[in-house]
Amino acid sequence: MEVKKRYFRDPGISYFLFGPRGTGKSTWLKMRYTKDVLYIDLLSPELFRLYTARPERLNELIEGNPDKGIVIIDEIQKVPMLLDVVHQIIESNKDIRFILTGSSSRKLKRTGIDLLAGRAAYKTLHTFMASELGDDFNFEKALRFGLLPLVYDSENPTETLNAYIALYLNEEVKMEGLVRNIGDFSRFLEIISFSNGSVLNNTEIARECHVGRKAVESYISILEDILLAHKLPVFTKRAKRQLISHQKFYFFDAGVFRTLRPAGPLDSPHEIDGVALENIVMQHLMAWNAYHGNDNKLYFWRTKAGLEVDFVVYGPDTLTAIEVKNSRNIRSGDLKGLKAFKKDYSEAKCLFLYRGEEKLMKNGILCMPCNLFLQNLVPDEGIGES
Ligand SMILES: Nc1ncnc2c1ncn2[C@@H]1O[C@H](COP(=O)(O)OP(=O)(O)OP(=O)(O)O)[C@@H](O)[C@H]1O
Ligand SMILES: [Mg+2]
Repeated sequence: MEVKKRYFRDPGISYFLFGPRGTGKSTWLKMRYTKDVLYIDLLSPELFRLYTARPERLNELIEGNPDKGIVIIDEIQKVPMLLDVVHQIIESNKDIRFILTGSSSRKLKRTGIDLLAGRAAYKTLHTFMASELGDDFNFEKALRFGLLPLVYDSENPTETLNAYIALYLNEEVKMEGLVRNIGDFSRFLEIISFSNGSVLNNTEIARECHVGRKAVESYISILEDILLAHKLPVFTKRAKRQLISHQKFYFFDAGVFRTLRPAGPLDSPHEIDGVALENIVMQHLMAWNAYHGNDNKLYFWRTKAGLEVDFVVYGPDTLTAIEVKNSRNIRSGDLKGLKAFKKDYSEAKCLFLYRGEEKLMKNGILCMPCNLFLQNLVPDEGIGES
């Protein structure tokens, strides 16, 4: 596969570029910035050693190269101390722009990102969107292996996904000393995969993992910090009904979810496919929010009485409610949640994504083939517009 154009755009000021491993950060940077840049890759053991020992070396490098206006520091989380120096340089030298990439915000959280708040934008790179892949987008493949560039581009996606998870466990969790017992954490990963696309019940997970509830909470926050998972809050704006208060959990990618989810003879493949389908839609909405700009956010909706909508995108540009169903037919009960939502929020755009082949309007709800929805979703346009 040739190198694909990404929707991600340089914001024109210094910025952090975060994204899970293998989302194409380095590839994008190398394509976008070809000259007049200083490139520091902290994955190089030698540079890692030099900058850990003496972060001020960055000053000397910049002063020695006055013709270079952009400084890229790849894998900034490896040497968080560098952020102090970056901060000082931004304050004193208005001509230099920094691009700081990372695949984990765990160590940067308390110190770095806050320190640079207001001086550097916080940007994210996501898995491929269908429209970035164009003709190379294959819906079945995406459902099976997800949309991580590293995996989508691979000759052997299953093997790549397995290696990917092992790498996260070893390098991001174990070597960084994030947990005391890596065995407990691996078991937790397997168990939480059953909650993918569902509301989290930490007590239940703790019981199944044989660890305390506090440990589960800390494990979940690790997953979020190393960018492997997202939690969606309930949409509560102007609420007219009693809503539940728990958050919904998703791995960042359907392929990663499937790799972690054990599937034995008693597991329904149809059920797992359904969750993977939702996951793919979630990934696209996250990416759309990030590249579209303007701080739109992703939620879900569920009332205490059990009415539910899978996704709500809300922000200055949109109020869109989306229900996803892994089925070729639409039964009237399938639209119940969206109808209730529409009653409470008459201005909302309501979309029902299914596996059939036609676009249909039912009770003011546009029912759309999921595949078509994904292929037409682009950051420059609204959700479900074309
Ligand atoms: N734009 C693209 N088009 C096609 N394939 C891509 C693209 N970007 C990334 N890939 C594929 O994904 C692989 C990983 O990309 P890259 O190394 O840029 O990710 P990264 O986000 O920098 O990961 P890490 O956090 O591990 O450094 C590439 O080797 C390539 O196979
Ligand atoms: Mg990289």
